[in-house]
Amino acid sequence: MSDFRELYAAKRTSAEELASRVESGWLIGMDAGASQTPDIISAIAARARRDEISGVKVQTLLDVYPLEYLADASLFGKLTSEAWFSGGGSRKAVNGGYGDIIPNYYRDIPGYIRRMYNYDAFCVSVSPMDKHGYFSLATVSSYCPAMMEKARNIFLEVNDCQPRAVCGTQIHISQVAGLVEVSHPIPTLPPTKLDETSSVIGGLIAERIGDGACIQLGIGAIPDAVGAALASKHDLGIHTEMFTDSMVELIACGAVNNSKKQIHRGQTVTTFALGSQRMYDYIDDNPGIAFLPVDYVNDPNVICRNDNMVSINAALEVDLWGQVCAESVGTKHMSGTGGQVDYVRGACQSKGGKSFIAFTSTAKGGTISKIKSILTPGAVVTTSKNDVDYIVTEYGVAHLRGEPLSSRARQLIAIAHPDFRDELRFEAKKRGILL
Ligand code: COA
Repeated sequence: MSDFRELYAAKRTSAEELASRVESGWLIGMDAGASQTPDIISAIAARARRDEISGVKVQTLLDVYPLEYLADASLFGKLTSEAWFSGGGSRKAVNGGYGDIIPNYYRDIPGYIRRMYNYDAFCVSVSPMDKHGYFSLATVSSYCPAMMEKARNIFLEVNDCQPRAVCGTQIHISQVAGLVEVSHPIPTLPPTKLDETSSVIGGLIAERIGDGACIQLGIGAIPDAVGAALASKHDLGIHTEMFTDSMVELIACGAVNNSKKQIHRGQTVTTFALGSQRMYDYIDDNPGIAFLPVDYVNDPNVICRNDNMVSINAALEVDLWGQVCAESVGTKHMSGTGGQVDYVRGACQSKGGKSFIAFTSTAKGGTISKIKSILTPGAVVTTSKNDVDYIVTEYGVAHLRGEPLSSRARQLIAIAHPDFRDELRFEAKKRGILL
């Protein structure tokens, strides 16, 4: 019987050697953000570029490394991107017509993986092996457990810059087909610039959040601004899809202690983290944060088990029904649904819960209103009119859930930028919805 250290030595190889095992037609899976494996994928892309393989598909979620195959349209058909949620590279590939997107609620991805997909390889970045032969999947749990179940081969990038999440997904060396050692900083997000408008929005939402609430903050500048505005609160808890820098600040200043949560009391719960090096240092060896699979963390029936659950997410535009588009600008693809709907629903089902969709009233230097009479043709509805709860801009707060269309229209026009209110009122009257 081999000692696990011998297994490690036997499985250690180069990215090029792992890439040489890939065959035409393979389906390769990766998970979110910092769990992706740029060295292995680059070596596979180099083989595709040399026409040694074709028909290989690579699934990702929120790519943040500059994965060069995502910028190379000439690889289409040889190494093709399928994104569960787009980051910078896969967005370019989708809009460029050489990358695909799989629509989903994030919580459903593990189920799709288990039912529909068989992976030839799952590639994942991990922290160095511990004294028991386990690697921590560091900042990501997400759908990793499902991909681990469904992959014929698991390829690791063992990165000594990855934090070790002690309450997170682990993999044992015996499960691994091959590994490469790398040492490069994991991707960080630039700090959000808090301008006056986002601070006003943050303040409007913070006024409506009581001490002891449990929060989820989504992706983007506005959720970060809300985080900053919550610093004076007490006994907040965190149950969130994405762990962000503003949450580290809230924990550091004592606003969050997770003491009032109904589930996972005392612990921050998330499914992946993306932020600064300070955040990654916070995660390292920290039993106060649990990285759990997304089919659990994002399940509205789990989210709502914490009382006073408050979700805060961003949007690109909203129409007078309250239909929220958060993933496209017209037909131009931007991101994905992610966990927005899961958290809107979970928060609204929670006792005392609320859900906020917040955004600045205009885009493109004040030339475009984000509150629209009708959505831009081609815009994707992320959160439906039946799920939406509060909408917030720097001009105020509209409460839409349970309200008739005329009240929704009136409230939304009142929080639109003043330059666009007359036009919105005119459109609403023309449609006969301002009763
Ligand atoms: N019309 C035209 N352009 C618009 C626009 C509109 N209505 N609204 C925004 N834009 C432009 C912005 O000007 C910006 O352009 P730039 O990149 O050239 O500067 C770009 O679109 C992004 O807008 P911004 O408001 O800065 O986005 P963000 O980084 O704050 O992210 C979402 C906002 C909605 C894209 C992001 O939150 C998202 O992907 N949400 C869906 C998933 C989700 O909510 N998950 C929640 C759980 S984590």
